[in-house]
Amino acid sequence: MALNSKVLLVGENHTSYLESGDVDELPLIFIHGFPFNNKMWEDQLIKFGVEYRCIAYDVRGHGSSEAGEVNFSIGLFAEDLIAIMDALKIEKAVIVGLSMGGYVAMKAIEKYSLRFAGLVLCDTQCVADTEEGKEKRKKTIGFIERNGLEVYADESLKNLFAPASFETKQQAVSFIHSTILNTPARTICRTLQALAERNETCTSLPQIDFPVLIVVGAEDKITSPEAARKMNGLIGGSELVIIPEAGHLSNLENPIQFNFHLKEFLKKLNHSNV
Ligand code: MLT
Repeated sequence: MALNSKVLLVGENHTSYLESGDVDELPLIFIHGFPFNNKMWEDQLIKFGVEYRCIAYDVRGHGSSEAGEVNFSIGLFAEDLIAIMDALKIEKAVIVGLSMGGYVAMKAIEKYSLRFAGLVLCDTQCVADTEEGKEKRKKTIGFIERNGLEVYADESLKNLFAPASFETKQQAVSFIHSTILNTPARTICRTLQALAERNETCTSLPQIDFPVLIVVGAEDKITSPEAARKMNGLIGGSELVIIPEAGHLSNLENPIQFNFHLKEFLKKLNHSNV
């Protein structure tokens, strides 16, 4: 199945997205992590497009989506998600968010929980940055402004992947390496600022009343299995799956296990609620 990139006008900005599947099926909206783009979901769009309407969009400034001039924030990205759903005439969807994509989804729930038919939180967390974490992001912004993206990209890879993936998943590693290098440095710096400034979303998780699957790579160094267990404890009835042989990018490092658990979760969703 060929995936064609499409463009949507959202507010004043063009947003690029990939779509697969039939428009009448249950919509699944995939939100990528930082600093990646919609292509990280290609395998899922191909597999799940057989049964569902799948959409993976580029968060503003990433991939081929325009950035606009307003300050980036996770709240703004959450408003963008709802505007994209409106533009695509999607009333309710299952949202699948990886890391920053999960932050966006959990922020959107605070105001728009009626727009969710289900939620898949992958390699993400509900806590805000610690003071130390904020300071580190600030230093990274300065470093990128002085040195560009090369060293930043190399250093990022070490944290993103499980050690064995550098041998067993070389294609995924080089895909992510080139994705980081092809993301505008300004987008990376603006998003780092937004990530540092984001609020916690843990306190709103107990209100969730739709099905939730939480997925985390067993070797995720950025958003640990511990962080996933915390969300699992806060969301009544949620399911937690730890993906073996995966770090922070569980859908790329162990797509077989990732897709299996996503498929099982979706099977259990009641289509008639959508
Ligand atoms: C991501 O993958 O989206 C980032 O690692 C999130 C973060 O840095 O907090």
